[in-house]
Amino acid sequence: MAVPTRTLNDGVSIPAIGFGTNSLRGDAGLGAIRSALECGYRLIDCAVNSRNEVEVGRSVREFLRATETPRDEIFVQTKIPGHLHDSKKALDAYQISLELLGLERIDVLLLHSPNFMAGKYRDAWRTLVDLRQSGAVRSIGVSNFTAQSISEIILSTGITPAVHQMELHPWHAQERLRAENARLGIVTQSWSPRGSGDPQNDTAPVVSAATAHGVTPDQVILRWHLQLGNIPLPMSMTPSERCEHLSVFGFELSEAEMAAISSLSGPGANTFGSG
Ligand SMILES: NC(=O)c1ccc[n+]([C@@H]2O[C@H](COP(=O)([O-])OP(=O)(O)OC[C@H]3O[C@@H](n4cnc5c(N)ncnc54)[C@H](OP(=O)(O)O)[C@@H]3O)[C@@H](O)[C@H]2O)c1
Repeated sequence: MAVPTRTLNDGVSIPAIGFGTNSLRGDAGLGAIRSALECGYRLIDCAVNSRNEVEVGRSVREFLRATETPRDEIFVQTKIPGHLHDSKKALDAYQISLELLGLERIDVLLLHSPNFMAGKYRDAWRTLVDLRQSGAVRSIGVSNFTAQSISEIILSTGITPAVHQMELHPWHAQERLRAENARLGIVTQSWSPRGSGDPQNDTAPVVSAATAHGVTPDQVILRWHLQLGNIPLPMSMTPSERCEHLSVFGFELSEAEMAAISSLSGPGANTFGSG
């Protein structure tokens, strides 16, 4: 199944939904990532912090070899952690990620969770800008930044991130930061798009929309992300769920259903519990 795409502010079109790989390591990880590619995922998210770039790269290489899928169809996305945010360390981290992935190119490279104390994320951003300008990566962006830190990196380089990946789900809808991303022409990516499975207080609007459309609650939540304009990055250990999560382009939530799901958002429902 072909996944629709979104065009980023740098002109690159990337898949409208991606596969998260946070805890996928070893043989189980290889199998899960490979099966996600077989279902049709073409955007695979990982990170230095996830310690699974080897598994991601190997799964992608094996899939490309076995299926003769053109390399350009697949977007491998990784992230440089905050403690490596300075110009030289970011460049070294990029090279190590490239080696671990074993690919000729990283497609999307993000700065992960800035270290505000060290304050070197502006320098690291300059490195990413240079990598993109040299054609080494297709698109660049950030993850877990604030509106202020995004504005600083734009001011210091004149280049706006193409994507901002942040925690986002119906219980933590991040309306203000999403609006700021949209104002700047940045595409929002949602991590933990299903809320990472935490027990949630009220799923009634999700369940009732699922019944109305004959789909699962997960599909409703992922559709909510898509209609908000976000790129969700679900991850599942269950093979059938992985494929099911891609089947979210054949129904549409009404305005009332969207509003009811958005109204679930409230303070304290994010992973780090800070509001
Ligand atoms: N940038 C960052 O700082 C950051 C942080 C965290 C994650 N991420 C990225 O975002 C991706 C997605 O985040 P995520 O892994 O938290 O995605 P998710 O799809 O929201 O949740 C995945 C995990 O939660 C479980 N889960 C979700 N909903 C559930 C439910 N209703 N009932 C029971 N279990 C449920 C899943 O179980 P099953 O396996 O059984 O489905 C799976 O183990 C990650 O894999 C990673 O690539 C980025």
